[in-house]
Amino acid sequence: MIFRQLFEAKSSTYTYLLGCEKTRKAVIIDTVFEKHGRDLALIRELDLDLGYVLDTHVHADHVTGAWLMKEALGAKIAGSARSGANCLDVALAQGDVVSFGHCALESRETPGHTEGCLTLVSEDRTMAFTGDCLLIRGAGRTDFQGGSTRNMWRSIREQIFSLPDDCLVYPAHDYAGRTVSTVGEEKRFNPRIGGDAREEDFAGYMNNLGLAHPAMIDIAVPANRKCGRPDRAEREPAAWWGPVELTFAGIPEIAPEWVASNRAGVHILDVRGRDEFAGALGRLEGSQCLPLDELRDRLDEVPKDRPVVTVCQSGKRSGMAAMILKDAGWEKVANVRGGILEWHKHALPLAASSV
Ligand code: FE2
Repeated sequence: MIFRQLFEAKSSTYTYLLGCEKTRKAVIIDTVFEKHGRDLALIRELDLDLGYVLDTHVHADHVTGAWLMKEALGAKIAGSARSGANCLDVALAQGDVVSFGHCALESRETPGHTEGCLTLVSEDRTMAFTGDCLLIRGAGRTDFQGGSTRNMWRSIREQIFSLPDDCLVYPAHDYAGRTVSTVGEEKRFNPRIGGDAREEDFAGYMNNLGLAHPAMIDIAVPANRKCGRPDRAEREPAAWWGPVELTFAGIPEIAPEWVASNRAGVHILDVRGRDEFAGALGRLEGSQCLPLDELRDRLDEVPKDRPVVTVCQSGKRSGMAAMILKDAGWEKVANVRGGILEWHKHALPLAASSV
């Protein structure tokens, strides 16, 4: 199975991308709204066909990217029938199975952090995505959103600790950089519920955590009840100028064919050396020669009144150039995917003098 663990630093959230190697069908668990571009890029680069976007529960600390993913890729939104979300395409209950190619996840109801929390277990019981129920050497808080230490105790003991000891535990959060645990490890070493802990020990611990009220709760919970569907106002600042796609490396890219047919509306910045610019590979009509080594010192020569498209031989140096411009405040900037080599593959027109 294809498996990727992704991290969002502000809320310390883990997002998990799982895919079937044979069919490329995939699911993604616990996305973060602000990381939608990153997740989408990885799904595209791994050539996956996203069937479902799942949330283990209605989160209080971040907004889900589920709606954005549904809009972008047509994936179905799945979550607990008891989560309170009013936008689910698939409402999951105990024992329901979400299939993706030759792989599947079983849904286990594990309330306690909220009333509608799920733990998603791989069919072969080697992996459990525990959301905010069982955490690594911890457990999700139980003091708001219908939380209950009694339910949490039962969920962990009956639904998670009943899995094989070597089953890997992947939580929705970790605040100390830990990435994975096992059921056996948590049974022994979890300071809240492991070892010989009894329910009153667990409740005593949980009731004295002394945690602050979550800063994002008033925004995140209502937004997550509608699966992170943005309001019109939240969509406005997009300033779309072309079909720019962010790569998983974080570089904005655009297809050479689009640049060829929209050349009049963009400024083309060629960041190769002067010899290459005048060389046999040719150059794009109307392009400005500004070698990458000089770009940071000559930013004032790059126009800001039009989108800037960067280009080099293979798209690597110009990828760096796009990032330099982005960091320096250019909002409308993209790298020509694959550079002039790709331009040649599509037999796109070059400047007359270089043909
Ligand atoms: Fe949570």
